[in-house]
Order: sequence, then C-alpha cells, then structure tokens
Amino acid sequence: MDEINTYYKVVERAFEKLAPYYDAICLPISGVREQVADLIASGEGSRILDVATGTGAQAFAFAKRGHNVVGIDLSEAMIQVARNKNKTGKVGFEVVDATHLVFPNDSFDVSSISFALHDMPLVIREKVLSEMVRVTKSGGTILIVDYRLPKNHLGRWLVYHLIGLYESTYYTEFIASDFPGLLGKAGVQIALDHPVLLGVARIIKGLKLGKIATEAAQ
Ligand SMILES: C[S@@+](CC[C@H](N)C(=O)[O-])C[C@H]1O[C@@H](n2cnc3c(N)ncnc32)[C@H](O)[C@@H]1O
Repeated sequence: MDEINTYYKVVERAFEKLAPYYDAICLPISGVREQVADLIASGEGSRILDVATGTGAQAFAFAKRGHNVVGIDLSEAMIQVARNKNKTGKVGFEVVDATHLVFPNDSFDVSSISFALHDMPLVIREKVLSEMVRVTKSGGTILIVDYRLPKNHLGRWLVYHLIGLYESTYYTEFIASDFPGLLGKAGVQIALDHPVLLGVARIIKGLKLGKIATEAAQ
C-alpha cells in the first residue's frame, strides 16, 4: 500500500514540474504519434480514449484525422497544458485516474496509452490495462506505445542502462517482464508489434477479445 501511495505522490510531483517543458522534451518522438494515429482508419470518426494522455500529443494526432477523442490523465498540470493547446472541438481532457476509468463498459472504439505503462507498479499496470479493455468495445482496438530493447547485445546493454538513468524504478521490472503475456491475460490479442525509434520503443496494436475468446485463451 505504501508503494502505491508513493507512486501516486511521485507521479503528481514529477509531472507538475515537467508539464511546462514536456512538449519540448518529446519533440524527437512526435513522428510516433502520427504512426500510431495512422493505424486507425480515418474518416470513420471513431470514439477514442487516450489514457495517461499527458499534454495530449497523441489525442491531437487522432483528432486531426477526424476522430472524437477523450484524453485523461492523473496530473492536473499536464491536463492544463493539453487544455491550453486545444483549439478543436474534437478533443476533451479530463483529470481521471486510469485505474478507475469513469466510463461505461464498451464505450470506445479505440483506447490508447503511450509511454506510461513502464512507469507504473505492476498492480497498477494490470488495473490500467483491465480498465482499458473494459471500456473498449469487443473487437475494438487497443494501441500501446512503450519501451522495448533492441535485438543486438550491445544495443540492449546501452539502451537498458541509458534509459534506466532517467526512468522510474519500475522501468527495470517492466523491460524484463513478459509484456505480450500480460496483454494476453488482460484479454488483448496482439495484431501488430512494430519497433520504432531505432528499436527502443514499440507500437502494439491489439484487439479486444470477446468474453468467450478470453476464457479460451486462459
Ligand atoms: C511519460 S508521460 C506520457 C504522456 C503521454 N502519453 C505521452 O506519450 O507523451 C506519463 C503520463 O502518465 C500519467 N499517469 C501516470 N499514472 C497515471 C494514472 N494512474 N492515471 C492516469 N494517468 C497517469 C502521468 O501523469 C503522465 O502524464
């Protein structure tokens, strides 16, 4: 319990400080937002939930393609930056804890989360994934962007130690964990697993399995 309280406090404080600089820090990964948004057919006006949206970069990339987006985040400071940039009626931002999504079952065509799961204790990560699955329609899409390690030994060693310097303590556990296995347990079938940013991160496109398929997979 202490670990979880500490996690909430650390997230709040860290992102309150980072919020004014966050967009500048993330400039090098802006292309990934477009790659993720391209995975959803445009023109259909899907209803999309961007979880742990931060300052909303991924949410805006979806909205630019005509989708209706809700971005949620724990940090008021990050959400305020997102709201200040919001010039479209296609996105709304709310302060919500991703472990208790305030939306009904099966209410989104797509849910997404970028660069956030590695930063969470395992129990929180599991709860966030299960909430994302709950609010996504059966057969709907779940998009995840997060760290991976490159294939070659030197690359793995370098990336692991470099990212470990600035990421939270949970990164080490996350990167060693069976992430595809965790997705399977949550009821997500991986349709695409695509390395980006020189193999340091991956985009996963998953499909929410129906109830019967989930039970058969377990
Ligand atoms: C590294 S930032 C990523 C932001 C954004 N998705 C992006 O790709 O730029 C991680 C975000 O996760 C948010 N976060 C962490 N735990 C959360 C939780 N339980 N519920 C909602 N947001 C959370 C933080 O406030 C922060 O904005």
